[in-house]
Amino acid sequence: MEEKINRLKQEAAELIRQQVKNLSELNDIRVKYLGKKGEITGFLRGLGQLSQEDRPRLGQIVNEARRQIEALIAEKNAELKEHEMAERLANETLDVTLPGRHTWRGRLHPLTLTLNRIKDIFLAMGFSVEEGPEIERDYFNFEALNLPKDHPARDMQDSFYITEEILMRTQTSPVQARTMQAHEPNSPIRMIAPGRVYRRDDYDATHSPMFTQVEGLVVDEGIRFSDLKGTLELFLRKIFRENVGVRFRPSFFPFTEPSAEVDISCVMCHGKGCRVCKGTGWLEILGAGMVHPRVLEMSGYDPKKVSGFAFGLGVERIAMLSYGIDDLRLFYDNDLRFLRQF
Ligand code: DAH
Repeated sequence: MEEKINRLKQEAAELIRQQVKNLSELNDIRVKYLGKKGEITGFLRGLGQLSQEDRPRLGQIVNEARRQIEALIAEKNAELKEHEMAERLANETLDVTLPGRHTWRGRLHPLTLTLNRIKDIFLAMGFSVEEGPEIERDYFNFEALNLPKDHPARDMQDSFYITEEILMRTQTSPVQARTMQAHEPNSPIRMIAPGRVYRRDDYDATHSPMFTQVEGLVVDEGIRFSDLKGTLELFLRKIFRENVGVRFRPSFFPFTEPSAEVDISCVMCHGKGCRVCKGTGWLEILGAGMVHPRVLEMSGYDPKKVSGFAFGLGVERIAMLSYGIDDLRLFYDNDLRFLRQF
């Protein structure tokens, strides 16, 4: 029995010193020899059956064996832990001086920001926001706006035609006719219609074949030119600044009569005259006018009962003037160095 115990002790010592490679294997060894059903534990249990004279001596031997194996395990345990820690330190080095990893946050495009500001101002005045298709019928884009097929004013808006009757809309004005036709005849309208428009144009600092407009239309009983003036002056003071100069110049649009072009005092020189306003002190900002009776009539409204005003403005132009941007192409080139500034 003594021999057996010594063999076990030796076997355990060898396993612990030479075989065990990690903490979990070490634990297996502990269970094998010292666990509840372990081999050394078995001997300890068996002591009770021994004779009075054998018991103390063998008891001592078994206990000694247990103590030694426990000591070896403790030693190996410490060694393995130290090794593991060293390994982790080597593998998981963390350079706390490295800059943090950035999560990029998206942001709104300057044109969207400008459009949102425009919408907010008109929504506060009780306007609704309407939409129309970018691929439009010639009828809505031109004819219903008092521009028959051979009208010379069509030449101002060189178009992308898809068929004889269908084109990329050259303006947001067709939403005027679409909105009126969707309403009960003569019922009041107060709407803006933002959206993209398309013209055969160059692509340079001030031209693009695609750009963004906001159309406006107000129709009701007794709408007068003073309503047009008041609404647009309020809008321009809110979008630029409270004391911006506003000027109405007579002009021509087929769908309005009378028509006006609206200027603001130059945002750069405040009217003194500079390169941006070409020395005039004024910047053209939008077109407007009283809705032509023919336009009302063609969409089912009675010009004897109601009147209205309309306007159209370019969103890029307003964004360029409010942010001081001198090249239209920056809006479309998607250069992050530009876009991140907003
Ligand atoms: N649709 C015109 C354009 O693209 C702008 C415009 C002018 C719209 C006068 C209007 C208006 O509603 O009354 O040049």
